[in-house]
Amino acid sequence: MPAPRTVLLTGAAGGLGTLMRGLLPAYGYELRLFDAVPVEGEPDAITADLGDRAALREAVRGVDAIMHLAGISLEASFDKILRANIEGTYNLYEAAREEGVRRVVFASSNHVVGYTPRPLPGDPLIPIDAPRRPDTFYGLSKSFGEDLAQLYWDRHGMETVSVRIGSCFPEPTSVRMLSVWMSPEDGARLFHAALTAEDVGHTVVHGSSDNTRLWWDLTTARALGYEPKDDSEPYAARLVAEQGELDPDNPDHAHLGGHFCTHPPIWPR
Ligand SMILES: NC(=O)c1ccc[n+]([C@@H]2O[C@H](COP(=O)([O-])OP(=O)(O)OC[C@H]3O[C@@H](n4cnc5c(N)ncnc54)[C@H](O)[C@@H]3O)[C@@H](O)[C@H]2O)c1
Repeated sequence: MPAPRTVLLTGAAGGLGTLMRGLLPAYGYELRLFDAVPVEGEPDAITADLGDRAALREAVRGVDAIMHLAGISLEASFDKILRANIEGTYNLYEAAREEGVRRVVFASSNHVVGYTPRPLPGDPLIPIDAPRRPDTFYGLSKSFGEDLAQLYWDRHGMETVSVRIGSCFPEPTSVRMLSVWMSPEDGARLFHAALTAEDVGHTVVHGSSDNTRLWWDLTTARALGYEPKDDSEPYAARLVAEQGELDPDNPDHAHLGGHFCTHPPIWPR
């Protein structure tokens, strides 16, 4: 597959979309933006819902690849998750299939495997083929997205890299995040690798920096050509001083998914 140049970025108005709008053009991409809400300062962005199949079909027409970030990014009622994340992702894949788009990068989540016990120091890293244990309807919808991607590869030859993102923010803000943090710059490196690697079929990767306190295995991400350069450890002393080390007896700290397993934050809209 020739290296993609024109990329549809869904979820362009969101936190990660905003970070990637800033970082990906330096890799040579021309981004077409899509979101349910207007993208500030981007009058050409497409404002449409993932439920609008005609708008999606037009949005994907002529692009080389899609980065699918749009959706509910926290917990919500099953009905809301069904519409935005499950039907919405299906609508996007159908539009992409109809328009002949060959590559998708799907923003999956650590919450697909959120109930996996978090490794204690000295434990092996969580492998990429750990059994799915979604911690929320949100995590369940990302698990569906990964299966949809597999189906579209097996049946239609559409390739996807599903990135189980840890936490991609400018800085880690919790002790848990020290283990799953992906710096925005490493995020751009990983998404670039996912957009350009050859013959990915459907590949699932963990998405984080090379953190000293890493919980999961980055082998499949590195196999795409991803070379993380960042580590959350410089933030550790301050965060541990403020919050203390993770407590094995605290249920919020027992699983990879953290407090999504106990009291997940709710999508506000
Ligand atoms: N940021 C992270 O650390 C992280 C971690 C794991 C997974 N993810 C995933 O990455 C993606 C981006 O995350 P984020 O932090 O930027 O989330 P965000 O909530 O900031 O952005 C999501 C965007 O999707 C848009 N959206 C929601 N429903 C839509 C719909 N029905 N149609 C069109 N657009 C819709 C929203 O308007 C919003 O701009 C999400 O899919 C999220 O689940 C992010």
